[in-house]
Amino acid sequence: MASTPTAAGSDRTAGALRLPSSGRLADRFDRPLRDLRISVTDRCNFRCVYCMPRSVFGRDYAFLDRDELLSFEEIERIARVAVAHGVRKIRLTGGEPLLRRGLEDLIARLAALRGADGIRPEIALTTNGSALTVKARSLKDAGLDRLTVSLDSLDDELFQRMNDVRFPVARVLEGIDAAHEAGLAPIKLNMVVKRGLNDGEIEAMATRFKGTPYTLRFIEYMDVGTSNGWSLDEVVPSAEIVERISALHPLEPAAPAAPGETAARWRYADGTGEIGVISSVTNAFCGTCNRARISTEGKLFTCLFATEGHDLRALLRGGADDEQLAAALSSLWGARDDRYSEIRSSLTPELRAARNRIEMSYIGG
Ligand code: GTP
Ligand code: 5AD
Ligand code: SF4
Ligand code: SF4
Repeated sequence: MASTPTAAGSDRTAGALRLPSSGRLADRFDRPLRDLRISVTDRCNFRCVYCMPRSVFGRDYAFLDRDELLSFEEIERIARVAVAHGVRKIRLTGGEPLLRRGLEDLIARLAALRGADGIRPEIALTTNGSALTVKARSLKDAGLDRLTVSLDSLDDELFQRMNDVRFPVARVLEGIDAAHEAGLAPIKLNMVVKRGLNDGEIEAMATRFKGTPYTLRFIEYMDVGTSNGWSLDEVVPSAEIVERISALHPLEPAAPAAPGETAARWRYADGTGEIGVISSVTNAFCGTCNRARISTEGKLFTCLFATEGHDLRALLRGGADDEQLAAALSSLWGARDDRYSEIRSSLTPELRAARNRIEMSYIGG
């Protein structure tokens, strides 16, 4: 409904004046905007117990209607403006992004964008891997650069219990190989570790993927959303993960590949590759966080733990032009002071519970 850009908290003139000619946007802690994560659907064909538990995301759950979703044209416009202002990586997420029909068309549009320096943004995708055997080739042909596949266990019984839709792990492994054969690289595998559920799989996962083309990353289970009933006891600290793997296959620390990376890298001492650990609970990385997220219905979130998004869809559908969109983006990013993971431990459980946190399946990992 908003017909003026002020709906997203920006004044056209003031916002436009704040646009730097370099294209680089900086927030209150001088963190640039580099990484844009776009959720293309809030639906998923899995019901992972830590993300979309059936008790909440059951038959009656109201997912978004089609006209509520951003269209590919709308996504492309936001991405074009963001890329012109410093975004270098676009990650498509969900829900499960491969459920969005015609995703290849969106990928092709995004792959055609160029930054102020003429450089093409990197296009990445996070998926549960269930459709990769069928889709890997067309994704690559459309211009997708790289892929992250969620894989929480190699044990089929446990994998099926975790996805809660009886999806066999062998089909995901097949999909990962299909993606490799299609030339998508690098391929990263993300394992969310939840104590008492799949922490027994840490060593088996490390051993299975050591020396393969795939980079395995262990993720500390986080308190995203409100439906997973998170508790600190269920977090396996990254230090413990590194220690356990190192006891089998010695590891040594490696330098970050890029500024603002989520994962700390560890290299196998025998030269057979590396792993990553993402320690958002025990070693927060907000200080260099350069990520913005767009929800399926077009809200911009400046933090994974934000309680409120800014309605870019209202701007687009209200007739804002690219300059107005850029002014809104600049103003929203300029006001950003999020650092939830750094302050988490200072919040009481009551304060944490009182925050109306958004779900990962809505905003994307
Ligand atoms: P690369 O570009 O390959 O390094 O990927 P990435 O690590 O930026 O993205 P990915 O989607 O693979 O992120 C892995 C996991 O890290 C996510 O599923 C989240 O669990 C966590 N994560 C990613 N970004 C953030 C963030 O900004 N804050 C926090 N707290 N966790 C994050
Ligand atoms: N903690 C950490 N990561 C999570 N993801 C979903 N829920 C959580 C959580 N509670 C991430 C996983 C998954 C991606 C889609 O989102 O990495 O692979
Ligand atoms: Fe599982 Fe990813 Fe689907 Fe969440 S979005 S239920 S983590 S597959
Ligand atoms: Fe960035 Fe927020 Fe995650 Fe910190 S908690 S790293 S500010 S998204």
